[in-house]
Amino acid sequence: MGSSSKLPLYLPYNDAGRQHRNRSSITIALLAFFAASALYLAWPAWTSPGLSISRGEINSFGAGSGRIQRRWAQYSPWYAVAEYQRPPQGCTINQVNILQRHGARYPTSGAGKDIQSALQKLKSARLPPRTRQGSSNKLHFLKHFVYDLGEADLVPYGASESYEAGRTTFRRYGHLVDEENLPFVRASGSERVILSATNWTKGFSFASQSAYFPVLSVILDESLNDTLDDSMCPSATSPSPYTSIWLSQFAPPITSRLNAAAPGANLTDEDTHNLMSLCPFDSVAHVGQGRKEARKVCKLFSEEEWEAYEYFGDLNKFYGTGYGQPLGPIQGVGYINELLARLTNKPVHDHTQTNTTLDSSPLTFPLNKTLYADFSHDNQMIAIYSAIGLFNQSHLGFGGILDPRRPDERRTWRVSEMVPFAARMVVERLSCGEGGEEYVRILVNEKVQPLEFCGGSGGMCALEDFVESQVYARSSGGGDFEKCFEK
Ligand SMILES: *[C@@H]1O[C@H](CO)[C@@H](O)[C@H](O)[C@H]1NC(C)=O
Ligand SMILES: *[C@@H]1O[C@H](CO)[C@@H](O)[C@H](O)[C@H]1NC(C)=O
Ligand SMILES: *[C@@H]1O[C@H](CO)[C@@H](O)[C@H](O)[C@H]1NC(C)=O
Ligand SMILES: *[C@@H]1O[C@H](CO)[C@@H](O)[C@H](O)[C@H]1NC(C)=O
Ligand SMILES: *[C@@H]1O[C@H](CO)[C@@H](O)[C@H](O)[C@H]1NC(C)=O
Ligand SMILES: *[C@@H]1O[C@H](CO)[C@@H](O)[C@H](O)[C@H]1NC(C)=O
Repeated sequence: MGSSSKLPLYLPYNDAGRQHRNRSSITIALLAFFAASALYLAWPAWTSPGLSISRGEINSFGAGSGRIQRRWAQYSPWYAVAEYQRPPQGCTINQVNILQRHGARYPTSGAGKDIQSALQKLKSARLPPRTRQGSSNKLHFLKHFVYDLGEADLVPYGASESYEAGRTTFRRYGHLVDEENLPFVRASGSERVILSATNWTKGFSFASQSAYFPVLSVILDESLNDTLDDSMCPSATSPSPYTSIWLSQFAPPITSRLNAAAPGANLTDEDTHNLMSLCPFDSVAHVGQGRKEARKVCKLFSEEEWEAYEYFGDLNKFYGTGYGQPLGPIQGVGYINELLARLTNKPVHDHTQTNTTLDSSPLTFPLNKTLYADFSHDNQMIAIYSAIGLFNQSHLGFGGILDPRRPDERRTWRVSEMVPFAARMVVERLSCGEGGEEYVRILVNEKVQPLEFCGGSGGMCALEDFVESQVYARSSGGGDFEKCFEK
């Protein structure tokens, strides 16, 4: 733990401490664990003729919010955090802006290699004889475990999460569209994001009984100005110094337990975390295929261990592009300025990562639409939440900064609820009362956000107060964007 004293743990991001730039090369594979009784969650039957999944099951241990699949942080499958609330009486929705993460995917290439390396260590270890009682028996299946995951691509289950979101959107907001006014859809340029967008349009169309077929109109290049990706801030630092501190707190007992059961495997704490990540990835990749191995991997770890895994993900995002990263929120500013333009029906005003060529053309950035859907990534959504002021943790004290040495149960910064696969932030514009005064409401994975930063009441702010509250975005981050390119 000696390294923890070198880190500025309690600096709010806008203190812009350069000391955050402590680059530790510890890789972060994330993971988790555990198990109790196996409960299966049956997913609804998909009615799309085009999707191969008819009925899926995903590993699910415990019940309700204790289900371990809700402890997988950014690898959690999508779920509604709360039940959708209709707008208050007297208010009607007149515009909807959806920002959605791609659906479930395979591990990225780095994460996949790390997982396989940990698996290989276990496979080559001397496992005690099968007959012996004890935890060691639980590892025998790994000898024959076949790692068959692809790389970074959307998995069929991820396609169905996106498709379902499109259906729900039509059912809820279909009255806002007609032939002349279809949803306007954009995607960041990764294949998994593009396919999530097109699966969403297909679900939307299906729910409208093919009356409306929105198309994906703009694909943003991730190597250029792209408000739906977090690739434009090279000076932002890695969250690994923070996640390493937490790893060194929670992982050693797990690593020792596994090493005792597999003598000679010599697993490190990072391996333990990587092995935990195999549980969510294998689970989402094999939904509905009756594969038992993922469940066995998941059950190697206890419920508390999965909670610890979740906190690793919370810290990873908090210090990656969230409030704990001096150059995190700035990466969300371009999108917020686009959102403000749509909400107020005025041209985009931004000096960060918007593409001004695209945003000044009505073909690629139309105003006065009623339904917009943008497809993006988890890190980018975290930057956007943080730039807006959502999920502010100031109630925890310490300048609203998460402590990498211990989780605080009072935190609302829970990545599983913020950016699970197919996560969505929905900004509704409402017209209320006889005067038709305009308001804004924000739902994140269906849960109405309090909007305390614009004086929210019942989860709504007057549109003008919301715009007013977005000073950080409207000032284009007050010079933070330039810092993204400083050495
Ligand atoms: C949906 O996503 C899957 C990837 O899982 C892809 O193969 C399929 O072509 C997509 N469908 C549409 C309509 O985009
Ligand atoms: C803006 O978008 C256009 C059209 O996709 C593209 O050709 C151009 O390179 C982009 N510019 C930047 C800086 O992203
Ligand atoms: C584990 O460590 C021991 C002692 O350092 C070494 O002899 C053994 O070869 C290592 N095993 C593996 C699989 O690396
Ligand atoms: C891309 O972003 C940079 C930084 O804000 C800006 O200077 C440049 O004009 C942008 N390019 C386009 C085409 O919008
Ligand atoms: C905006 O859209 C509304 C409803 O579709 C329409 O009545 C209005 O004329 C439009 N305004 C402009 C400036 O296009
Ligand atoms: C979080 O909320 C507190 C209290 O309202 C406020 O003072 C602070 O500026 C907010 N932090 C951020 C980063 O928005």
